[in-house]
This record gives sequence, structure tokens and C-alpha cells, in this order.
Amino acid sequence: MSKKVKISLQPIGKNITVNPGTQLIEVLHEYGVEFPCGGKGTCGRCKVKLLQGELHADIIQQQKLKKLELCEEWRLACFCKAESDITIEIAQFEDIILADNSTFSFSPGKGYGIAVDVGTTTLVAQLLDLETGRVLDATTALNPQLKFGSDLITRIQNCLDGNQPAMAQLIRKKTGEMIQSLTEKHPVEISKLTLVGNTAMHHIFSGLNVQPLSFYPFESPNLGMQHFSVTQLKWKLPPEAEIQFYPSIGSFVGSDILAGIAATNMAKKENFTILIDLGTNGEIVLGNREKIICASTAAGPAFEGAKISQGMRAVTGAISSVQVETGKMKCHVIGNVPAKGICGSGLVDAMAVLLQQEKIGMFGEINSGENEIELTPGVFLTQQDIREFQLAKAAIAAGLQILLNTFKINFNEVENVFIAGGFGNFLNLQHVIQTGLIETSEEKIIKMGNTALIGAKMFLFEDENFIQKILEKTSHINLEGDSNFQDIYIEKMMM
Ligand code: FES
Repeated sequence: MSKKVKISLQPIGKNITVNPGTQLIEVLHEYGVEFPCGGKGTCGRCKVKLLQGELHADIIQQQKLKKLELCEEWRLACFCKAESDITIEIAQFEDIILADNSTFSFSPGKGYGIAVDVGTTTLVAQLLDLETGRVLDATTALNPQLKFGSDLITRIQNCLDGNQPAMAQLIRKKTGEMIQSLTEKHPVEISKLTLVGNTAMHHIFSGLNVQPLSFYPFESPNLGMQHFSVTQLKWKLPPEAEIQFYPSIGSFVGSDILAGIAATNMAKKENFTILIDLGTNGEIVLGNREKIICASTAAGPAFEGAKISQGMRAVTGAISSVQVETGKMKCHVIGNVPAKGICGSGLVDAMAVLLQQEKIGMFGEINSGENEIELTPGVFLTQQDIREFQLAKAAIAAGLQILLNTFKINFNEVENVFIAGGFGNFLNLQHVIQTGLIETSEEKIIKMGNTALIGAKMFLFEDENFIQKILEKTSHINLEGDSNFQDIYIEKMMM
């Protein structure tokens, strides 16, 4: 049997063992890396940086690299085979993690800090120099609680079934390992560590009773800031390092949204700003320096592929965008493989295109009278899928309308609409507007990436007073409690 070779994928820190001679394209497909030009070597999007080992670049690849102005440490994954152990940095992963590497205002501090976004699916940690605000390094990992369910309801149920201590232990241990990997590479003194996440993540990490999150009125008495000592968490950090899990705004609006509010600067602006996070809870926020109101909608699952018969996450095989080319519908599939299903951004696109082509009507009905529409060989949208999309988009659109009504303003008075989260980055804004998901002009919409992480980084430079000021002007409303909710919701179901 031939000896296997190890491929280490950075910055996600994943090790894979394969047979020598395996094409990188085969391996990276599985991790959602896209090959937009189908491996012709013209787009350069599959570029990887060789950090360790050898990865042969033949003369043709060398010419392509030169044309793409990539220096000798880069390779095009679509051209390479793994012949021996290698460590490569995937540029597309880097884009995702560091998409939030935007500048933010801060007053220089001292020493080094780590900001952590404790997501339901993914954990991201960044190491920062607090004097310059520069990100020195980043690392990501999957949330190890995934084995206790991928959605929050299953996780909370698992806590109630007695698994909370094990789940807390898993997340604390994994975060500690991520921190250690950063500090081993950069042996600096960490003085502060900020953690943000939704309310369930906050409660599970902190060992707080999750029961109030499981039944009406879903009000937990423990939403506040949680402080931890290094000894308590057994993390390899200086004993005096400050570790805080930031407070939630409500039972369904966590410190990830609080961080998002900080990231958009909403609490300091005179003009109104909207923040939309299309993750599982579909949180929406509207406000300015006087007052901020947030709410959670039940929109998320459809945009994450749930409830759609061939819905899936944005991984290899998912239709991620749909366009019309010379009058025909054209689907782009992640990884250039035959389509297996459709992810959130593809779903929004498909709806807009089906509307344009009059394949569906304004009530979402399939005009042919059939029960499904084929998007590409093997992938269909059923009448029920279209209904699910309408329900999800109406939840967001109605939520936004209620927030606007609460302030007695309309979209014209809103300066910017920020879309948070990885999913938002792939959205075609024209299609977002055409489907009525966000009823504003394209110029006002800004895709902001991981606002939770940006905010967590900002918290490294601020004291508790900063948070307090945001919390004092922020309130949470229950959308269904609004007497006009049903009427607005039904109206927004229209396409
Ligand atoms: S250069 Fe386009 S996929 Fe490799």
C-alpha cells in the first residue's frame, strides 16, 4: 500500500490524509472552495499559498501565475497534485475569515487581545495588537457542540436533558485550543479577551440555566456580562488576563447583535441605520444615537437551506447564484460539480429570476400549473419551497416595516442597511430588492461580513461604559405582539 500524504489546510487548521498524486481540486471541493473558471487557470480564485512542503508548478502553471501576477509562493489549486506532505493557505478561506478586516475607530491600548465570535456553527478568533489595532492572526474551528444538534432548539433541548456541562466543557476547551494555537505562533502577552455569541451560546458557555430560553415568555434573568478568570477556564494565558462574555440584549438577541450594533456605529449616528443578520433567528435592528430597537424574526431556516426540499448550506454542489443569460436561466454551482441542491443566496436569485421570467406570479403560484420548476438538471423548486421562501422573506420585510413604523419613519429616512453574516456576502442585491426582501435602493445596502467579530474586536479597546451606553438606548420588541403584524406579514408575502 502506498504511503499517504498529509495536507494541512490553513487558516482553518484542518488536516487531511490522501493518496499521493491526489488532485487538490478533489480535496478542496469538499471544503467549499470554488473553482470559478473550471480549472482553466484564468480566474486565479483557487489560489493557495504554499506554507510548507513542495507543490510542483509546471511550466504552464508558471505562465498562468505570472499572468495573474502571483509570486512564487502561490499555486493554482486547480493545477496541483499533492505528492508529499504540504501545508497550504487557502485564499478563499482567508477572504471569509478576514472579510471583516475593515478599519474601525479605536483609541490605542496596550498589549495584545483576542476577540472570539462564538457562532452556533463556526468559531472565529482573531489576535490583535492593541496599540495599532492590527490583526496579527486568525483561526477558525467548527463549534464542537454540533454533535449535540446543529440548531439552537436542539442544543437547548440537549442542555435540558442533562448535557449542558458536557457542552460547556467542549466549547471552553475548543476556544482554549484556538487561543493556544494563536499564542504559540505569536508568543505575546494577552491582556484581554472578548467573547460574543447568541444568547444560547452565552448561557451554555457561562454555565447559566437555559431553561428560561425554552418556554414562553422566553425571558432569562441572566443576560448580563459574564466575567471569567484564566484559572476557571484553564486556558494558557497570563493569570491576570481579563475574559468576558458580552451581554445579550434579549433572549433571542445576543451579544453577536450587540457587537453588530457597535460595528455599524449606529449608536453614535444622527441618521437612522438598519442592521440585518440573516442567520437562524433573522435578527433585525433599527436605530440611531437616540434609540435602538431590535427584534428577531423566524426567517432564518429558509435562508440556511432548511425547509426547502433540496435546500443545503453554501457548500460544494449547492446552487449559489442564478442568472439569466441570453434568455435562459443559468445556475452557478459551488465547486463546479453537478448541482445537488440550493443554498440561501441561490434561492433569492432563483425567486427573482422566476418572477422576471413570469414562471411564478405575484402570489408565488407556479404559472404552468405544475407542482415544481426545474432550475437545472436534478434540482427543483416545489410550490411548497416557494411558499417557504415567501414566509421567510415576509418575516424579514414585515419585521423591518414594524420597526420603521415604531419610529414613524420610512426607508427614505434610513441612511444605510447593513447585511451581516457570511450568507449576506453572496447575495445579489438587485434580486434582494426585486423579491421584496429589503425594500430600499441598492446604494444604501452594505454587505458588512462578520459584524459580530468586528464588534468583538472593538470591545477589546473599550470599557464596560461603552457597552452600557449602547444597552441603555437599546430595547427589544416582540414583533408578533404588534397589532398590525398579521396584516403587514400577509401583505409582505406578495412577490
Ligand atoms: S484558476 Fe480558475 S479555478 Fe483555478
